[in-house]
Amino acid sequence: MTVVCRKATEKDLDALVTLIQLYAEQGIMLPRSREALQRQLDTFIVAEDEGEIVGCGSLMKLGDDLIEIRSLGLLNKYRGKGLGRQIVEFLIEQARQMKVPKVMALTYQVAFFERLGFTVVPKEIFPEKVWKDCIFCKKQHCCDEIAVMKRIDL
Ligand SMILES: CC(C)(COP(=O)(O)OP(=O)(O)OC[C@H]1O[C@@H](n2cnc3c(N)ncnc32)[C@H](O)[C@@H]1OP(=O)(O)O)[C@@H](O)C(=O)NCCC(=O)NCCS
Repeated sequence: MTVVCRKATEKDLDALVTLIQLYAEQGIMLPRSREALQRQLDTFIVAEDEGEIVGCGSLMKLGDDLIEIRSLGLLNKYRGKGLGRQIVEFLIEQARQMKVPKVMALTYQVAFFERLGFTVVPKEIFPEKVWKDCIFCKKQHCCDEIAVMKRIDL
C-alpha cells in the first residue's frame, strides 16, 4: 500500500461526495452538498492509493490562531494502518505553513486524536464560528461530540 496525501482538485469531487455521503449516512460526519464541497475544495486534502481516493480531510480556518480539522475519514479497509495519522499530520503541516498555532476537531474518535498529541478541551473555549455548520446536524441540540485541540510549533 503506497498512499499519497495531496491537496484535492476538481477531479476528486465525485469521490469526495461519495466518501462524505457514506459517513454522513452513518452520522459520523456532517452532510455536505456537491455544491458546498466544490466551493470548499481548496480546504480539502485526499489520500490516494494508485488512483483511488481512499480518504480525506479538510481544514477550516476559524480565526488568526485557530483552525479546525473537518471531514476526516477513510475507507474501512484502510483503517488501522497509520493512514489516519498520515492525513492528520499532513493537515497539521498545512496549518503550520498557514502559521495557525491551534488545531482543533470535534470528534467521537478521542483516543485516536490523543495518540496524535491532541488533548480534550471544553467546547466553550471556541468562537461562535465553530458552531456555524451545526444547523446542518441532526444533533444540534444534543451534541455529543468531544472537542480536542493541539498546539503546534510554528
Ligand atoms: C478515525 C480514523 C480517521 C482513524 O484512522 P486510522 O488510519 O484507523 O488510524 P491510525 O491507524 O492512523 O491510528 C493512529 C494511532 O491512533 C490509534 N487509534 C486509532 N483509532 C483508535 C481508536 N478507535 N481507539 C484507540 N486508539 C486508536 C492507533 O492505534 C494508532 O496508534 P499508534 O500510532 O500509537 O500505533 C478512521 O478510523 C476513520 O476514518 N473513521 C471513520 C470516520 C471518523 O470517525 N472520522 C473522525 C471524524 S473527526
